[in-house]
Amino acid sequence: MPALVLLGAQWGDEGKGKATDLLGGSVDYVVRYQGGNNAGHTVVVGDQKYALHLLPSGILSPGCTPVIGNGVVVDPSVLLSELSGLNERGVDTSKLLLSGNAHIITPYNVTVDKVTERFLGKRKIGTTGRGIGPTYADKINRVGIRVQDLYDQSILTQKVEAALDVKNQILTKLYNRRAIAVDQVVEELLGYADKIKPYVADTVLILNQALDDDKVVLFEGGQGTLLDIDHGTYPFVTSSNPTAGGACTGAGVGPTKIGRVIGILKAYTTRVGSGPFPTELFDEDGEALRRIGGERGVTTGRDRRCGWFDAVIARYATRVNGLTDFFLTKLDVLTGWERIPVCVAYEIDGERVEELPYSQTDFHHAKPVYEYLPGWQEDITKAKTFADLPKNAQGYVKALEEMSGAPISAIGVGPGRDETIEINSFL
Ligand code: GDP
Ligand code: IMO
Ligand code: MG
Repeated sequence: MPALVLLGAQWGDEGKGKATDLLGGSVDYVVRYQGGNNAGHTVVVGDQKYALHLLPSGILSPGCTPVIGNGVVVDPSVLLSELSGLNERGVDTSKLLLSGNAHIITPYNVTVDKVTERFLGKRKIGTTGRGIGPTYADKINRVGIRVQDLYDQSILTQKVEAALDVKNQILTKLYNRRAIAVDQVVEELLGYADKIKPYVADTVLILNQALDDDKVVLFEGGQGTLLDIDHGTYPFVTSSNPTAGGACTGAGVGPTKIGRVIGILKAYTTRVGSGPFPTELFDEDGEALRRIGGERGVTTGRDRRCGWFDAVIARYATRVNGLTDFFLTKLDVLTGWERIPVCVAYEIDGERVEELPYSQTDFHHAKPVYEYLPGWQEDITKAKTFADLPKNAQGYVKALEEMSGAPISAIGVGPGRDETIEINSFL
């Protein structure tokens, strides 16, 4: 059975955690391949609610092996506290595997993230402040610290020295901060070494062997397509590749192994942090989406910016990820509107544009062109099949599917595992 990728088709927070958890019971491995604890994935199981940041959502399915791949950046203190939080709630986390090649978010990366944002002032990205960008920058600059470095003190010390050499100059001379002591960082990192050792593994080998043995492997993206460093709304993006190709590099699995790419798509749009957002609402509709949808960040507690569904973005996500399916989430949130605007194209400097413009300037000027679809008033949270949905809700789903370029294979009508309408099986 080929591998599946499950990823965000918009700006993150589409409901990836719920979708992954739903499939977790039927797959052998769930693998995070990029990002870090900037992610906030909410999973509701019965009357229990879990907020996961770094751990793959498959950790809540007993039969499934959760894997943190080489492409992820790992804050060891967050990893340990997330694990112990789950253990206290009776979740067995002993099967977790952590790539020895994953990069470590060090305390100085977190400091640099925060001071850089402060320094940018009005031009800030609005990062989660978790050290994500600076850690990936160190990786690319070849001064990163990897999980495996925790097991060789002399190498670790040399690497921390190399990383801090320039950073301390910047921190003291540019940002007016105190220099960070190499020894202190090394000591802190060594303190994590034994605790995370049981999880460290050659995850690339294990995953490829699992695929050879016909096991089912699910790659769980963090963030979303429009936050991708290459394909998103740069520079207002995260510093990794949430798009489908990222699963290959971030887990060491070839593209020929991937058979299905599922885009998680919210029935409207949200965004956290700075950056362009053509369908953003500043009126009572936006406020209502935020309230009914519970649109508040799981990681930072920030209110999410809310807007109508944007089909231009969905089409773009289909294209850059090679999506085979969509999982449409939060359809229940739209219950109660008389008519629902859907953005079908943009108007840019007086011209109608059907596809996402590659130019940042054009995208900043994009105004949504809306079509209005009839709404529904009936409660849909108990719907189990597509036929259970009111005609207008069915029409909304069908219209989105047509505009977005891939079949909608599941529909979320509530946060719980069972509040899902399955149309085509993913497995
Ligand atoms: P993720 O980052 O993509 O995993 O998404 P988040 O967990 O940050 O945000 C999605 C929120 O919507 C969470 O609170 C989920 O419990 C919730 N959710 C997911 N699917 C549905 C759905 O179909 N309906 C409703 N009402 N809530 C949902
Ligand atoms: P999940 O996995 C929504 C946003 C931040 C900021 C930008 C860069 O829950 O969908 P970073 O800290 O990554 O350098 O911040 O990306 N961002 C997210 N927005 N959901 C997320 O994750 C996000 N992870 C990062 O708000 O705008
Ligand atoms: Mg989230």
